[in-house]
Amino acid sequence: MVCGKGGTGKTVVSILLAKVLSEGYRVYIVDSDESNILLPRLLGVKPPKPLIDYIGGKRDEAELESRELDIASMLSRAESGVRLRVLPDEYISYSRDGVGLTVIGKVREYGEGCACPFNILTRILLRNLVLDNDEKVIVDTDAGIEHIGRGIEEAVDGIIALIDPTAESIEIAALLRDVSLSLGKRFWVLANKVDGRVKDILVEKAEEAGLRIDGFIRFDEEIIESCLLGEELRSDSALEDIKSIAYHLKLIE
Ligand SMILES: Nc1ncnc2c1ncn2[C@@H]1O[C@H](COP(=O)(O)OP(=O)(O)O)[C@@H](O)[C@H]1O
Ligand SMILES: [Mg+2]
Repeated sequence: MVCGKGGTGKTVVSILLAKVLSEGYRVYIVDSDESNILLPRLLGVKPPKPLIDYIGGKRDEAELESRELDIASMLSRAESGVRLRVLPDEYISYSRDGVGLTVIGKVREYGEGCACPFNILTRILLRNLVLDNDEKVIVDTDAGIEHIGRGIEEAVDGIIALIDPTAESIEIAALLRDVSLSLGKRFWVLANKVDGRVKDILVEKAEEAGLRIDGFIRFDEEIIESCLLGEELRSDSALEDIKSIAYHLKLIE
């Protein structure tokens, strides 16, 4: 699960990491950010229908909670456990690299503010997900720590906290570290948009917060440009960095 302050690059890094991992695995991205809608375009796919529609639309929290078994069996489609590859075509879109994208739901499509039901559906999906050895799932989350406390993090194997050269992103990463530790999850800190001059300061600030940075991703003009144009994501230096990080951290072997 990729977490961190808004704008640190969670969506961009999720896509690039998915591309890297797709060299060795069948990779899926679960888009659990209920407000941002650019991911499909950056991945170069048609937006899939949101999973919340599959289970009959947005409901209140208590109702979703109480229907977990029922929802899990709907998502499973007669298999044992939920497998993303058996979802109906309209609920999953595949990129040219074979990365599958599934989207939980977007607040704006439902005209109301509260994202809690989406977080609960994310948790139900992840908790009931069954993966083969050659499958990996990356969860792209919303900004900050709203999902923390909704139990989503319980259902993942590890948390990547993204920081960028801002003090606030470090503070949030420290909170995420505490959550990961208390749940016994694997935890990594990746620093994004790092250029020569700020790197040393960032390392020092992270250390003061008790964080060791596991990898650095360079600031990459190609990314800025494709995000600005709203086109399929292009990247050179950042993609290279994420590739070496993925091997170094043994996310791919
Ligand atoms: N390595 C990078 N180099 C330059 N710009 C980046 C990099 N990573 C992300 N960005 C820029 O930061 C912006 C926010 O990224 P995004 O992935 O949407 O953040 P988040 O999902 O954390 O809110 C994007 O518009 C993108 O242009
Ligand atoms: Mg995002």
